[in-house]
Amino acid sequence: MQTTRCLVTGCAGFVGSHLCDALLALGCTVVGVDNFFSGHRRNMAAFADHPEFHFYETCVTNTGELAALLARHAPLRVCFHLAAVVSVSWSMEHPERTLEVNYQASQRLHAACREQGARAFVFAGSAAEYGETGAAAIREEAATPDTVQASPYGRAKYLSSRLIEHSGFGVSLRCFNIYGPRQDPGSPYSGVISRFCQQALAGEPVTIFGDGGQTRDFIYVADVVQAYLLAAGLAGPHKIPLCGAFNVGRGESTSILELAAVVAGVAGSALAPRFSPSRPGDIRHSLADVGKLEAATGFLAGVAMREGLEKTVEWMRREDRDRDEADSLRARA
Ligand SMILES: NC(=O)c1ccc[n+]([C@@H]2O[C@H](COP(=O)([O-])OP(=O)(O)OC[C@H]3O[C@@H](n4cnc5c(N)ncnc54)[C@H](O)[C@@H]3O)[C@@H](O)[C@H]2O)c1
Repeated sequence: MQTTRCLVTGCAGFVGSHLCDALLALGCTVVGVDNFFSGHRRNMAAFADHPEFHFYETCVTNTGELAALLARHAPLRVCFHLAAVVSVSWSMEHPERTLEVNYQASQRLHAACREQGARAFVFAGSAAEYGETGAAAIREEAATPDTVQASPYGRAKYLSSRLIEHSGFGVSLRCFNIYGPRQDPGSPYSGVISRFCQQALAGEPVTIFGDGGQTRDFIYVADVVQAYLLAAGLAGPHKIPLCGAFNVGRGESTSILELAAVVAGVAGSALAPRFSPSRPGDIRHSLADVGKLEAATGFLAGVAMREGLEKTVEWMRREDRDRDEADSLRARA
């Protein structure tokens, strides 16, 4: 019997690598694409040698190469399209390249998958598509052509989501703030949780951009992976791929100041935060109304914030230990 073939772009990234783990565990064949712009080979260490994993190091704007690998691995059942410029700040400095990678490449890949007869197309949308919204929970219909996104990142994600929604083929998962193991704390553009955890573990004060009154809806990466599988029709009781745009969050609001306090507790740090000026493109509040996805699939995020933070800190401690051991082995050699 032929296995379910899935394409995962951004497979060396934080979310993409967890998704590959889950798909391979389900018995799928995974064709992975990444150019290591922000992802890392080490994220794929657990599955790089899996017989059902096929990796291509290429850019998603490379139309010819993508067409060739789609043909080589036909028929693909699902395309999970996660590769993107992920940094809001980088997108402010490079708006044209952001549009090229996050919109034009998505448009072409979506058309190619549809033409090839894929059953599902799952796009990594974003809460940034909504722009500044106020503190109330935001529903999917709030993003319209008139919405002013705070960054080229948000705009390009919105254009892709709208294209997918209007095409009647595929789904955009508008994820809110994802965190967990493998989120790169070393990147200057990294998510706030991985930065806070790394600073607290290093015995430094956490850095808050702005006054810390900004709020976010944080969701653990394993919950997001489950939402991706449900959206693709690979999990859940109905196993029917979704169409349209859906928020993915916990539906709970946490301020950056509250987050700093919880991270300090989990990491065992007693230092007060340090404040820096706000960053351009950062929005003030972001909270998901999660009712649409729950109604369609029954999905509710299961990992509580403290539990997710404990797993993240534990992973970072393990990474630090492994790095120290490798350094001392090198020094002795
Ligand atoms: N992390 C979050 O909080 C969050 C929230 C909402 C949406 N998203 C979206 O989820 C997706 C995954 O994000 P992530 O947090 O795992 O980020 P990530 O940076 O870890 O993963 C993105 C991956 O895409 C790859 N990539 C970037 N440009 C590429 C290109 N031109 N060609 C091929 N590969 C390319 C990167 O090398 C990286 O491995 C992104 O589309 C992001 O916009 C993330």
